[in-house]
Amino acid sequence: MIELHFNQLAQMEKLCAILILFSLLIANTYATSKEAKDAEKWFQKYLSQRKEKVAKLHFYIQDALGGPNATLWEVARSEITSDSPTMFGQVSVLDDKITAEPDRNSEELGRAQGLITSADLRVSGLAMNMNVVFTSGPYNGSTLCILGRNPIGSTNRELPIVGGSGVFRMARGFSISNTYSYDPVENYGVLEYTVYVFYA
Ligand SMILES: *[C@@H]1O[C@H](CO)[C@@H](O)[C@H](O)[C@H]1NC(C)=O
Ligand SMILES: *[C@@H]1O[C@H](CO)[C@@H](O)[C@H](O)[C@H]1NC(C)=O
Repeated sequence: MIELHFNQLAQMEKLCAILILFSLLIANTYATSKEAKDAEKWFQKYLSQRKEKVAKLHFYIQDALGGPNATLWEVARSEITSDSPTMFGQVSVLDDKITAEPDRNSEELGRAQGLITSADLRVSGLAMNMNVVFTSGPYNGSTLCILGRNPIGSTNRELPIVGGSGVFRMARGFSISNTYSYDPVENYGVLEYTVYVFYA
């Protein structure tokens, strides 16, 4: 038993040494990369002229819940989900189109990508982890991270913005959303979002 234990320790030490070597290699590759230099340059500039910006964004999320072209799909559920009045335990993944106008065929501003989990046993409430990924316009390539509880039964729902990337580095703020329209025949919803955000 003890010998085995020592053997395992020796193996773990070897593995650790390999991992450390590997991470050093990665670290070196990172340190000389364009991304690292850009991040460092950004950090120095941020330190010297730290001034927060603020933005108000308004957009619509096209939530296709059904049909072959649905953009939201269930990926897991619990044993009690089917009997639960709140669909407790249902986990879905989404990649919804974001538009500037409510019309579903209007130009794509970005995508709303992430996971939503029905996480309230008593009233409808979602635990959301959703990234707003801009794919056009001045924010193209930048993201905002929405993370928090969505009281889906309420008319105006506040959600925290906990971070961002690109233009929205260091972002924090909140969004207010409401259901702009819902078509039960097609199972298609349009959600209106107003986002208030500070960023670096
Ligand atoms: C699904 O998308 C395809 C390709 O864009 C389109 O041709 C088709 O009509 C769509 N189907 C439905 C039911 O919307
Ligand atoms: C957004 O950025 C991507 C990646 O840089 C680029 O390929 C694409 O053409 C841009 N789209 C628009 C609409 O500017």
